[in-house]
Amino acid sequence: MENQLRDIEKEAMEAIEKASDPKSLEGLKIKFLGRKGRLTSILKSLGGLPKEQRPIVGKLSNEIKARIEKAIGERMEALKGLASGPELIKGFDPSLPGRRLHLGHLHPITKILNEVCHVFEKMGFSVAQGPEIELDFYNFEALNIPPDHPARDMQDTFYVDDKVLLRTHTSPIQIRTMEKMAPPIRIIAPGKVYRCDSDVTHTPMFHQVEGLMVDKEVSFSHLKGILTHFAQEIFDRDTAVRFRPSFFPFTEPSAEIDIQCVMCRGKGCRVCSQTGWIEVLGAGLVHPAVFRYVDIDPQQYSGFAFGLGIERIAMLRYGIDDIRLFYDNDLRFLKQF
Ligand code: PHE
Repeated sequence: MENQLRDIEKEAMEAIEKASDPKSLEGLKIKFLGRKGRLTSILKSLGGLPKEQRPIVGKLSNEIKARIEKAIGERMEALKGLASGPELIKGFDPSLPGRRLHLGHLHPITKILNEVCHVFEKMGFSVAQGPEIELDFYNFEALNIPPDHPARDMQDTFYVDDKVLLRTHTSPIQIRTMEKMAPPIRIIAPGKVYRCDSDVTHTPMFHQVEGLMVDKEVSFSHLKGILTHFAQEIFDRDTAVRFRPSFFPFTEPSAEIDIQCVMCRGKGCRVCSQTGWIEVLGAGLVHPAVFRYVDIDPQQYSGFAFGLGIERIAMLRYGIDDIRLFYDNDLRFLKQF
């Protein structure tokens, strides 16, 4: 009798383990524990046993009954959990690899902008800012740019109205800084600027970093030393730099600074218009007329200013031959940085 009971338990446990849905579990419950179930019939036949065996077999049957009930209950819970879990959702394949989350990163222009600022910060320059929607006064007039200057042409400048425009360079920040601050001044001003222009080396919006240093006895040699150091920090130590005499209404003397084209190493290509050089900077000593606009005595103080184009530098650094790629927002391009 005892062996019979143990066989029943073993059989029941195996069947419960194999049951794959609640319905077949119900069936097992009836088969083993139901009113006509196998265990029940043994319990019913206890009366026919010898007296001394009854309590032993009775106790064992009750224990087995409890174990089978418990196993059925647990398996039922497990099956319910599976039914609501993802495995049974139609069309879901848990063996497929997960979707990768893509990490964003800084735009290449932002990276170069930060890097350029850092080079000057290490030399003691601090960062200044100004508005992108600017007054004609700061963008032109106070920079000694006369009303008939070609830069004021509607074709180059985005005007909001007669007096308000999108700044065409970061130089208005020179004026705003000198209005607020007395010398010694040593600032750089990064920001967006706007010009009505578009081709492989021009976009209507681009970035400049302005530099301004004003103190007693600031000379052209300071400008030259600082800009040469800058070029050497940003490009290879052996990249050639050249200073060309130039003209800006707000600097005197003025220079344009070129960096040897790193695309063709000076041989001449589309990017450098076959010249072997790329202009990256405009610079000069602050014009006395500009100092007078901001009440700084040009007899006592002198200074230099420069403005550099970030896109040009980024193109050279990354070997990109079309500036418009920076603003197409094509992830296949941007992901490479
Ligand atoms: N603002 C000039 C430009 O955008 C650059 C410049 C800045 C030149 C400062 C001289 C001094 O072309």
